[in-house]
Amino acid sequence: MSAVRRPLVAGNWKMHKTVGEAREFCDALATLVDVAAPLDVAVCPPFTALEATARALAGTSIAVYAQNVHEAEAGAHTGDVSAAMVLDTGATGALVGHSERRAAGDTDAQVAARVRAGIDAGLLIVMCCGESLDTRRAGQTEEWVTRQVRDGLASATAADIDRLVIAYEPIWAIGTGETATPDQAQEACAIVRRVASEVVDGTRLRVLYGGSVNPGNAAELMACADVDGALVGGASLDPGSFAAIVAAAA
Ligand code: PGA
Repeated sequence: MSAVRRPLVAGNWKMHKTVGEAREFCDALATLVDVAAPLDVAVCPPFTALEATARALAGTSIAVYAQNVHEAEAGAHTGDVSAAMVLDTGATGALVGHSERRAAGDTDAQVAARVRAGIDAGLLIVMCCGESLDTRRAGQTEEWVTRQVRDGLASATAADIDRLVIAYEPIWAIGTGETATPDQAQEACAIVRRVASEVVDGTRLRVLYGGSVNPGNAAELMACADVDGALVGGASLDPGSFAAIVAAAA
């Protein structure tokens, strides 16, 4: 972690938690997180719980992000949600290009358009990238991540730096209990930063690691020079374990 960049720990709830469960989580989390700590904390509920979560966390320093946004402002896009709609719930950011969304069909071109649309609407965008196990075994991690970062930032400009975060999430470490080693996380996050520097000021860009982060491994992962925080899935569903990861970042 660097002294210049403010750490960010975001919890990706994926398709978990009803409105009632989200409220319970927020009540517990607000008592567990040190709000004075110099870092940013966010949770990413499903669309259905965005507004309730934003209300429950209003007045705290914990932000609420969506898990995706559509690139269009409005229109015939059944099942999709625009960046303006996300903002309208009280959320202030969104993930884009998560590997589970890419597996469901989101293309590189859509990821780039969603980064642009989200930032233009005023959201902070966490653009996700990361390679599969086959790609890593084939020795193509650098090439893969380089392409994803270049493609994802195709419409971004240097002026977007304050609204852009990139999360490196190796697919083989997501939800598997298998975490990248600190060396692997550092190496890939350094590649992300170097490639993103073609567009934005890399010294200011926050790069997160994601993939089976838990209270036991969070500190050593976030101690890496180019890792500025974590995108946490499974371990973010319980307020106690999420708060422990936040404490490790602080
Ligand atoms: P995980 O998920 O922490 O459960 O591996 C991370 C993510 O998909 O963002």
